[in-house]
Amino acid sequence: MSRSAELAAIVRDRAGDEPVSHGLILGSGLGHIADEVEGVAIDYAGLPGFPHAGVSGHTPRLAIGRLEGARVAVFGGRAHYYESGRGDAMRLPLEVLKALGAERLIVTNAAGSLRPETPPGSLMMLSDHINFSGLNPLIGEPSDARFVPMTEAHDPALRAALRAAAGAEGVTLAEGVYAWYSGPSFETPAEIRAIRILGGDAVGMSTVPEVILARFLGLRVAAISVITNMAAGMSAENISHEHTKAMAPVGAAKLERLLRRYLRDFGRHGG
Ligand code: HPA
Repeated sequence: MSRSAELAAIVRDRAGDEPVSHGLILGSGLGHIADEVEGVAIDYAGLPGFPHAGVSGHTPRLAIGRLEGARVAVFGGRAHYYESGRGDAMRLPLEVLKALGAERLIVTNAAGSLRPETPPGSLMMLSDHINFSGLNPLIGEPSDARFVPMTEAHDPALRAALRAAAGAEGVTLAEGVYAWYSGPSFETPAEIRAIRILGGDAVGMSTVPEVILARFLGLRVAAISVITNMAAGMSAENISHEHTKAMAPVGAAKLERLLRRYLRDFGRHGG
């Protein structure tokens, strides 16, 4: 049995056999949503091979159960490339998600904005991304499946449903291109100017490897950034992880409403 099948069996043992419809990955300071899941929470430590996800502001637990009637698996913490030097740090968790039956993944993150019209506290759904890091989580994957098409990687139908949920909730949801910067240092103002010229609207240290892995596994995926700061050089404000964690809850409340609405409507209309 593969490692992901073994771990999925451990999860089913604790959480029951009913397939999961959605996976959710929560970004820095957005972990609250995991606590709202009616079901069981399993510490990553109880899932051998799961990453430590040791960044403050993340809760390394997998919550499985119902949220607004939908059966979900919520990853309270993610592993970032910069923690281990491994671009595929989230591969096993996503393989387990797939083995639990999920067809859709919604990724969230905290990000810096390059657009004055999306200031801190805004939500920005990713219309697309730029892999500014040059890394790829599929390096070393031997099968031809590694040649993953990335046209419409950010699923149009899933994005339309999230957009509709935002509209129904009166939540403003911008859309833009997210650039993945490896971190853990923040960007320089010159790097931000370069990203702007290249077409980036937001910048962050996660999400892109997860989107690539999700497409590799055949999951439909969409991602939403909670803007916590203006990118380097764009405002007089200091950029720090403390600031990210302090600002994330401002957008998180809106994000939670949007996600709840989306899941409720998914239950009514299907996907
Ligand atoms: N840069 C990279 N990652 C981030 C930022 C940023 O400005 N804000 C929150 N995460």
